[in-house]
Amino acid sequence: MLFTIVFFLLGLIFLLLVVLSYKLPVLLKITSNDNDEVTEEYLHNSQNFVYTGIVLIALAAVANTYFAVQGSPWEAHLMEWLNIVIRVMHITFGIAWIGASFYFVFLENSLNRTNNLRDELAGNLWAVHGGGFYYLEKYKTAPKTIPKHLHWFKYEAYFTWISGFALLFVVYYFNASAFLIDKNVLDISGTQGILIGISSFVFGWVVYDLICKSALIKSPVLFALTGFTILICFAYFYTQVFNSRAAYIHFGAMIGGLMVANVFFVIIPAQKAMVKAAKAGIPFDLQLGKNALSRSIHNNYFTLPVLFVMVSNHFPSTFAHQYPWLVLALISLGAAGVKHYLNLREKNEKSIWVMPVSALILLSASFITAPAKNPQACTSEVSFAEVNLIIQNRCISCHSATPTDEVNKVAPNGVMYDTPDQIVVKKELIMQRVVITKTMPQNNTTNMTPEERDLIRCWIEQGSPIR
Ligand code: HEC
Repeated sequence: MLFTIVFFLLGLIFLLLVVLSYKLPVLLKITSNDNDEVTEEYLHNSQNFVYTGIVLIALAAVANTYFAVQGSPWEAHLMEWLNIVIRVMHITFGIAWIGASFYFVFLENSLNRTNNLRDELAGNLWAVHGGGFYYLEKYKTAPKTIPKHLHWFKYEAYFTWISGFALLFVVYYFNASAFLIDKNVLDISGTQGILIGISSFVFGWVVYDLICKSALIKSPVLFALTGFTILICFAYFYTQVFNSRAAYIHFGAMIGGLMVANVFFVIIPAQKAMVKAAKAGIPFDLQLGKNALSRSIHNNYFTLPVLFVMVSNHFPSTFAHQYPWLVLALISLGAAGVKHYLNLREKNEKSIWVMPVSALILLSASFITAPAKNPQACTSEVSFAEVNLIIQNRCISCHSATPTDEVNKVAPNGVMYDTPDQIVVKKELIMQRVVITKTMPQNNTTNMTPEERDLIRCWIEQGSPIR
């Protein structure tokens, strides 16, 4: 009911915005004999108004639908589609952002800085792409007149953050007690978990911003060491508070948040100041540019570790390790190392040890997450009846056409174990989740014992017969 009212209120705001967008020229005293450029800008602004309205109304519609289908089988279906839409948005914005950022780092690293340059240029670059030749120039400082159409890269970052945050809610926070919290790790409520998660992002930014403003920033090596140590503390903290899968995502979301905050609080303001100074014809505060550049470099090193974390949810062998933070630390270090190597390469600088060492670090992560090579030998033959009983007792509350679980109202990932065939075809996944990584049953809510895991392993090792 409440949401229906909100829905209509938002609808009204939307209509108001549309009307306002038509009235705007009058309000801003733009008359029809003004030049084309003003009209263009006005059109652009009014379009933004209308889109804000549409987005608001879409959000209200989704919220309204949620309350309408709550408790019915459509609830899970709605959540699944929200998940799909937001995830695809997040990936798309993320690709646009990281793609642009990789491109500019490449540009910076590969500019021709010596041959036949006009005085005002720092460098230029020829490229061929998509069936055309491109020629780009970088200025030493600002051009004499700032062009009217100056492209800014910022919304990619902001929308990546917004969609990522929304995804965090859809996947982890809406059912926090099941997906965020593991009572065997720390016995807190879902709400407490969410509050801890969100405040950790703010805290992370405060700490990072402080060390960026300290004297440490002058020594890249010391800065990297301190920063890395602090990050590992965060990784450790998350694994002591959340289930390890959610811990990984929080680590990635925290660093991703730092990256967006760098864009929002440091890089874009510096660029605005730069444009303003250039327009006024006064010299630009060089320190601002330096700060922006260093934040941009940090972002560059953050990207690969964050990308790993964002896909880590598919790889229980990483997050389900006995020391999940250690695996996270190794993979983050190795991935940042690979990025360092790529940067050096683009700059044509020699780097002999960076890549091999990074690869070794990554290999060590794969090594320590490997399952035991010689698990206990199976002494007797395990019958399907025994295995089926275990599965019916421990898994079927979620993995069934008719789940009885409080949270999982449809079979998770479509995995069901109602018939022998359904169990046998999934035996590899069962081995992975139940025996090797022990990430199923989820949070071990159904209290599976180590002996039961061993029986399942033996049954699979004996060729998973249905007898
Ligand atoms: C409390 C609910 C719950 C119980 C009980 C449970 N699972 Fe799951 N299972 C889930 C959820 C939620 C997912 C999806 C998220 C994930 O992959 O962790 C899942 C995913 C899986 C997957 C991965 C499917 C894929 O496509 O990657 C397998 C395999 C699996 N479960 C097996 C089992 C087995 C075997 C048991 C019993 C020993 C079991 N689960 C018990 C909730 C449960």
